[in-house]
Amino acid sequence: MSNASLLILPGDGIGPEVMTEVRKIIDWYGAKRDLTFDVSEDLVGGAAYDKHGTPLHDDTMAKAQEVDAVLLGAVGGPKYDNLDFSVKPERGLLRLRKEMDLFANLRPAQCFDALADFSSLKKEVVAGLDIMIVRELTSGIYFGEPRGIIEEGNERVGINTQRYTESEIDRVARSAFELARRRNNKVCSMEKANVMESGILWREVVQKVHDEDYPDVELSHMYADAGAMQLCRWPKQFDVIVTDNLFGDLLSDAAAMLTGSLGMLPSASLGLPMANGRPKALYEPVHGSAPDIAGQGKANPIACILSFAMALRYSFDQGDEATRLENAIETVLADGARTADLMGPEGGTPMSTSEMGDAIVAALDASL
Ligand code: NAI
Ligand code: MG
Repeated sequence: MSNASLLILPGDGIGPEVMTEVRKIIDWYGAKRDLTFDVSEDLVGGAAYDKHGTPLHDDTMAKAQEVDAVLLGAVGGPKYDNLDFSVKPERGLLRLRKEMDLFANLRPAQCFDALADFSSLKKEVVAGLDIMIVRELTSGIYFGEPRGIIEEGNERVGINTQRYTESEIDRVARSAFELARRRNNKVCSMEKANVMESGILWREVVQKVHDEDYPDVELSHMYADAGAMQLCRWPKQFDVIVTDNLFGDLLSDAAAMLTGSLGMLPSASLGLPMANGRPKALYEPVHGSAPDIAGQGKANPIACILSFAMALRYSFDQGDEATRLENAIETVLADGARTADLMGPEGGTPMSTSEMGDAIVAALDASL
């Protein structure tokens, strides 16, 4: 691969622990598949604050803008709870998302057969599930003006505004259609066009982008409340779902939990294509820094490793190698490999973070 550059930001708490395991995977690809990355590493969050007095140094920000993909562990922790809002660890992550203009948040809900019993749904409903929710991340009701709490007569009124421009809808729709072409060529767009003007515009623009530039992709529209029901009833009917910031927040959390543990959930946030055609990209596990288990070798590294698999697929066009990595994870889980978070009430002895990483590397070896 030509000039594949990767910036690793391990962050705080279990972030560095799970990232150590991702490094083993990256090294494996270099040694065994001749897939080498120009890897650099830097600080973010509390770790950056400790060294620089800011949760993201300007030099780190500049580097993030240049690389093909950023891989982040997690930020935050009780040590930083009393810091001023402006330098809280989370602000480092928010700055990355904002300045890289990462408007498309990809949250997969993928069920590994070996863990299907963990789901609150019936095994046949979730076994083999593999769907992707694309949530618009930089606009909508969390950002719209006017907002605030105002006095009106003798009471207060809380106000937030759902606002979407055509171009904001257009670009996230494109991300979803591009993604669908790398998957199963199927997109379902969700809004509430029945009761919201922003939903009417959303539906129109998504349809227009489809008809003009992605007629090969199968497109359907669904009201978001009906979509929530269908996600619980029969999630396998979906492949890519594209929706706004608010509905996406709820739907992606609900869909993710169809499949079990926080320690298993990756994510990606994508922006506009760069000069080399690759989108601006940040990959990170959904979980946080897990201060309750940090430093104890208990963390499940799979969420972070799956985030790297997403980078292989969506930044580096290595879909087959991403599938190899996902299959290796499926294999070790089928063989009974479990970190503590994946253990049921029957108990047993859990694997450590590094034992799980080693098992996945061994399964990668066996895949050759
Ligand atoms: P959390 O995700 O860190 O932990 C929630 C629970 O899940 C804990 O019991 C934890 O031990 C467990 N858990 C999380 N990841 C795990 C893994 N890989 N393996 C095994 N168990 C795992 O969320 P929490 O406790 O609400 O937040 C802790 C800190 O992380 C806070 O400072 C919060 O602000 C920050 N945070 C950062 C995020 C990020 O960096 N994107 C996201 C969420 C929270
Ligand atoms: Mg949420």
